[in-house]
Amino acid sequence: MNLEAILNKGELTRDDLIYLMNLEDKEGLQKLYDRAYQVKAEYIGQKVYYRGLIEFSNVCVKNCNYCGIRKDNNKVERFTMTEEEILDRAKWAYENNYGSIVLQSGERSDKEFVEFVDNIIKKIKELSNNELGITLSLGEQSKETYQRWYDLGAHRYLLRIESSNKELYNSLHPDDHDFKRRLECLAEMKEIGYQVGTGVMIGFPGQTIEDLVDDLLFFKENDIDMVGMGPYVLHEDTPTAKDVEDNELIKTRNLNWGLKMVAILRLLMKDINIAATTALQALNPVGREMALKAGANILMPIITHRKYRTEYQLYENKPCIDEEASDCKNCLAARVGTVGDEIIYGEWGDSPHYFKRT
Ligand code: 5AD
Ligand code: SF4
Repeated sequence: MNLEAILNKGELTRDDLIYLMNLEDKEGLQKLYDRAYQVKAEYIGQKVYYRGLIEFSNVCVKNCNYCGIRKDNNKVERFTMTEEEILDRAKWAYENNYGSIVLQSGERSDKEFVEFVDNIIKKIKELSNNELGITLSLGEQSKETYQRWYDLGAHRYLLRIESSNKELYNSLHPDDHDFKRRLECLAEMKEIGYQVGTGVMIGFPGQTIEDLVDDLLFFKENDIDMVGMGPYVLHEDTPTAKDVEDNELIKTRNLNWGLKMVAILRLLMKDINIAATTALQALNPVGREMALKAGANILMPIITHRKYRTEYQLYENKPCIDEEASDCKNCLAARVGTVGDEIIYGEWGDSPHYFKRT
């Protein structure tokens, strides 16, 4: 089977996906990206939706082996934005006509935290006359907590599976994680009615192309509405860093794998939301624009105040930490223009897939 035939096929097999992930020649890759962009234009439109990302706390109870803000990294100065600061950012997003925001933080599930989030969701709904969409990215919680937050007005939840291969998942996470519970969380969110987003890290030590293809099939089997996946990027103060043999090689490879994953996923799941993630930009200044060209349709500009950005470093070279939100807005708009997409302001930008499955 040749490339053209695969690109125009209805249903892709596992072997097709492996073939595409192994593409290396420039011309072939360009064909893949062009086809993925064409599918996006047809099913979603040449559009990009924004989610203003508020990374409101780097306090985390977990110790993911790859992550710069893991609990045991005592080089990080921990912060939690006040309610007032978070609401100020949400108001900024609303006034700047961002259709929705994402509230993200390290993981905590104590009562105080849950109630803090309750309150914030309520107040954001109030300050925006119920207009601003709210996506949560707050890790594993009890079903009751997911339900509470949904009832208060959050409607999308992001929880990356990180790797759909249980052994790899366990190797990335110490005993504070349970793969089965992760899957249950995703199922519970769906049952409650959230639009469910998940994703993986691409190219961490020990992961193969076959593993990544199985991640793509995992998204499909689980009928996921949104995917945010990004290249693994080394952070010095983490256990995973020790397994990285040649970081320069990994950086080049992971950018390449990251873009291919986006494009192939667009062929596999034509009507879902796919994010052009910030980690791509850590590897190439125009990494996110390249992802938009390869089929992604979501951008998540960081709108956290500058003073907190340096302490929210999950990986090295995280971009935009010196910028203010307004700089990011203009800078991104110019960048999206270069791709040929239109930024859609003032809409939630829900995944068309969600409406078809519900
Ligand atoms: N490289 C890339 N992504 C990372 N994340 C955490 N650490 C890293 C890293 N070193 C991602 C995880 C997590 C998300 C919030 O950030 O996938 O789900
Ligand atoms: Fe905490 Fe998330 Fe980092 Fe894991 S990836 S250590 S849960 S912030």
